[in-house]
Amino acid sequence: MPLRLTVIGTGYLGAVHAACMADLGFEVLGVDRDQSRVEALARGEAPFFEPGLNELLARTGATGRLRFTTSLEEAAEFGDVHFICVGTPQLPGSHAADLGQVYATIDALGPLLTRPCLVVGKSTVPVGTAVTIAEKLVHVAPAGAGVELAWNPEFLREGFAIEDTVHPDRLVIGVQAGSAEATLREVYAALLSDGVPIVVTDYATAELVKVSANAFLATKISFINAMAEVCEASGADVTVLAQAIGYDERIGHRFLRAGLGFGGGCLPKDIRAFMARADELGAGDAVAFLNEVDAINLRRRARTVDMARELCGGSLQGVTAACLGAAFKPNSDDVRDSPALSVAAALQEEGATVRVYDPKAMGPAARQFPDLLYAESVDEALAAADVVLLLTEWDEFAQLTPERAGALVTQRRIVDGRNVLNPAQWRDGGFAFRALGRP
Ligand code: UDX
Repeated sequence: MPLRLTVIGTGYLGAVHAACMADLGFEVLGVDRDQSRVEALARGEAPFFEPGLNELLARTGATGRLRFTTSLEEAAEFGDVHFICVGTPQLPGSHAADLGQVYATIDALGPLLTRPCLVVGKSTVPVGTAVTIAEKLVHVAPAGAGVELAWNPEFLREGFAIEDTVHPDRLVIGVQAGSAEATLREVYAALLSDGVPIVVTDYATAELVKVSANAFLATKISFINAMAEVCEASGADVTVLAQAIGYDERIGHRFLRAGLGFGGGCLPKDIRAFMARADELGAGDAVAFLNEVDAINLRRRARTVDMARELCGGSLQGVTAACLGAAFKPNSDDVRDSPALSVAAALQEEGATVRVYDPKAMGPAARQFPDLLYAESVDEALAAADVVLLLTEWDEFAQLTPERAGALVTQRRIVDGRNVLNPAQWRDGGFAFRALGRP
C-alpha cells in the first residue's frame, strides 16, 4: 500500500507541499481549521498568489488524490505520515517565535493517533522544539512509541515554491533512532532518484540548518546594503561593486542585490527568533551580529523616505507620492513585513498623499493599511504625482520609461528603491533621480 499523507496547515508552505505530494502520486489530505480556505482549496483556488499553484491544485484535485478537510479526526484516521506546516509568526512585543499553532496542533492531533505513524515537522521552529514535541507525542498518543517524529525543514521561496518543493537544493531530515528515516526516504523517493542530496541528522541540527540558512541569506543582503550606505557616503556605485565582488565564486552574485532590503514572512522573523532562542541558550553573543543585520535592513526603509523628502525640497507635507509596489518581492501577493508598504506608510506619516499600485498585492495591502490610497494601474498611480518611488521590482515597473512616466506626473522626481532603472536614461528624460547606494 502506498503511504497516505496528511498536511496540517495550508498556508504558503502546506498548500504547496500538499499539491506537490499529490502530484508525486500520493493520496494526500490537507487539513486547515479555516472552513472557507478548505473549500477554496478543494475548488482549486489557493488563498494567495503563487505561480502555477491553482493549476496544480486543479490537476491533482481532479485525480481524487488530493482532498481537504477541517477534521483532525479524519486526518488521524487517514494518515501514515502527518506533515505539520502551521505558521510560527513573531510573538507580538517580542523577538521570539509564537509556537502556539504548533503546540495546539500537537495537543489536538496527539490523542487521536491510535495507530503507528510518523509526524513530520516542517514549520520553522526554535532549536529544541522537536525534542519537546517527540516526548509529548509518546505520552499523549494512544499508539505511544508507535508514533515517531522527524523534523524536515522547508527552504522554499515564494514565487518558486513548486519548483523548490519538487527540485529542492537538498532534503534535511532530523530523526531519532527508529523507522522515520526509511519512511521519509519512501515519501521522497522520486526526489532522491533525481539526485537531490539528503542530509540525515539529529533534531537540533535539522532545526538549526533552517534558521542558519535564513540568517546567512539575511546577512548577505544586509552586507551589500551596508556597502550601499558607504557608497552613498563616498559617491561610489553599489550595483557595480556587487557585480565586481560577485565574480569571485566564493562570494557569488546571488542575493547581492542592494536596495530596500528584505521583508516577507520568513527572513525578518526568523533572524529575530534565532536571536531570542540563542539568548535563552546562553549563546546570544554568537548571533548578536543579527541585530545589526536587522538594523541595516530597517535603515534602508528610512533612507528611501529621506531620499523622497530630499527630492521634494525637505518636506513631504502636501506632496502626492506614487508608490509602485506593495508586495515584499515580485511574483508574490505577500505583504508581511513588506519594505514597500512600510515606506508608503512612513511617507503618509510625514504628510504625503500616498497612492499605491501593485499588480497582485492590492487586496492584502489594503487590508493591512486601509488608510493608504490605492490606484488601479501604474498610470493611475503616477497621475499628478510629485514624486515616484519604485519599491518592488515587478517587471512592469522595471520597464517603465521616463517618457511614459513624465507625461503623467506633475513633478519629474523618482526614487529607485530596487536598483532596476537606468539612472542615465531617467536623468536624460528630465527626472531628478535617486537610487539606494548609487551616486
Ligand atoms: C526566504 C528564503 O529564500 C527561503 O529559503 C526560506 O525558506 C524562506 O525565506 P522568501 O521569503 O520567499 O524566501 O524570499 P526571498 O526570495 O528569499 O527574498 C527575501 C527578501 O529579500 C525579499 O524581500 C527580497 O526582495 C529581498 N532580497 C533578496 C534583496 O533585497 N536582495 C537580494 O539580493 C535578494
